[in-house]
Amino acid sequence: MKENNRSKFASKIGVILASAGSAVGLGNIWRFPTEAGENGGAAFILIYICCILLLGLPVMISEFLIGRHTHANASTAFEQLAPKRKQWRWVGRLGVLSGIMIFSFYSVVAGWTVNYTVEAGLNRFNQMVGDGQENVYAQYFNSFVTDPIMPTLYLVLFILLTHFVVARGIEKGIERFSKLMMPTLFLLLLVLAGFALTTQGAAEGLKFLFQPDFSKIDSSVILSAMGQAFFSLSIGLGCLCTYASYFRKEVNLTRTAGSVALIDTFVAIVSGLIIFPAVFSVPGMEPTEGPSLVFVALPNIFHIVFADMPILAYTLPFLFYFLLILASLTSTISMHELITAYVHETYHLSRKKTTYLVTGIVLVLGVLCSLSLGIGSEYTIGGLGLFDIFDYLTAKWMLPIGGLLTALFTGWYLDRKIVWEEITNQGTLRFYGFRVFMFILKFITPLGIFLIFLDQLGAFNWF
Ligand code: PHE
Repeated sequence: MKENNRSKFASKIGVILASAGSAVGLGNIWRFPTEAGENGGAAFILIYICCILLLGLPVMISEFLIGRHTHANASTAFEQLAPKRKQWRWVGRLGVLSGIMIFSFYSVVAGWTVNYTVEAGLNRFNQMVGDGQENVYAQYFNSFVTDPIMPTLYLVLFILLTHFVVARGIEKGIERFSKLMMPTLFLLLLVLAGFALTTQGAAEGLKFLFQPDFSKIDSSVILSAMGQAFFSLSIGLGCLCTYASYFRKEVNLTRTAGSVALIDTFVAIVSGLIIFPAVFSVPGMEPTEGPSLVFVALPNIFHIVFADMPILAYTLPFLFYFLLILASLTSTISMHELITAYVHETYHLSRKKTTYLVTGIVLVLGVLCSLSLGIGSEYTIGGLGLFDIFDYLTAKWMLPIGGLLTALFTGWYLDRKIVWEEITNQGTLRFYGFRVFMFILKFITPLGIFLIFLDQLGAFNWF
């Protein structure tokens, strides 16, 4: 599948599934319930959806059109579109750096999902007996993530899995893998949601998810929702720009972006439908549990809710964590590809060697991230270990900066004709509302993102 000597996705559905595969991941199934739980549920979700529409979609469409127009990696793409202003390529380079950092800490959590799948497969969660003082699942989680050996081994295994798929190239590796995995993922999620809705906490879980309490909205809720939108859509670092460089000229960019955003939001909400009914089914469990929600609350809940149905108590946690591995893998593949495409095309290293190099770098950083939660926890900067630093810098700063600059580039710098041609496929597609789109891209999106920074810097207290 070559055109201009560069690989391409072979089918339209492959394009959508690969992009959605990048977007759907731990961000939806692990981070979204955490954020929604900590920020009051339904009201957060409402704002999150507004952020997807007004900030996320315009940035995603921008990334798509920049990538597809240039058929180049994120940095070269900006360079080609702004030959007189080479500084723009730093947007792409910043994105590659974000990619390396996210890949490193994300793989740690992805490694945990591998461990949890194995433990669930061995039926360990149903055999754990605590001392009655502390939650046995919390005990297990804490001792596991701080262990120097096991999380590291699973992290290495997970990164090697990613490496294997990327090494197979665009069509054979990424596209085929996504085509198989994404539908499996949806099916499993829906089945689990179906079971969750039969639990006794279902009504309360649904209320938490869908009945907004507007008194809960404050500046931090709005800002968390914006950050979550960026992270979850995989935008602001050039991942989707890189994928779009493998799109054919027939691909409808706005429709693809719309589908990806829809699928991503759908998976996040279905994850909420799995987790919150479950949380409310266990006495004493709160939705504000935090990042351990998926790893502590869920095994606990499965165990209690299905106490009389050992088969379900065994299979459901296994399916759930297995599904998390798949979702994480389609995301780390896109991070790996972002970095690999950049290094391969910029430094003219063979694709194979580049793949090894990238895997090597991420292995080292990933192991350090993992150790920073346990034996390396005394090495901190500003009170944060490496894992937290990478998380904080990328999600809170680098992705929004990348998104802001991308929106400014497409809205203000790029020739409007290029934007029009890419969006309408040289005038062959109808696109009503182009002016509205340009208005949002030029003003609403950059301004919205800019507010994140002002607030992070403590500049105001508006809301
Ligand atoms: N969007 C992915 C998720 O939800 C994470 C991701 C971030 C992937 C940035 C690629 C780039 O899990």
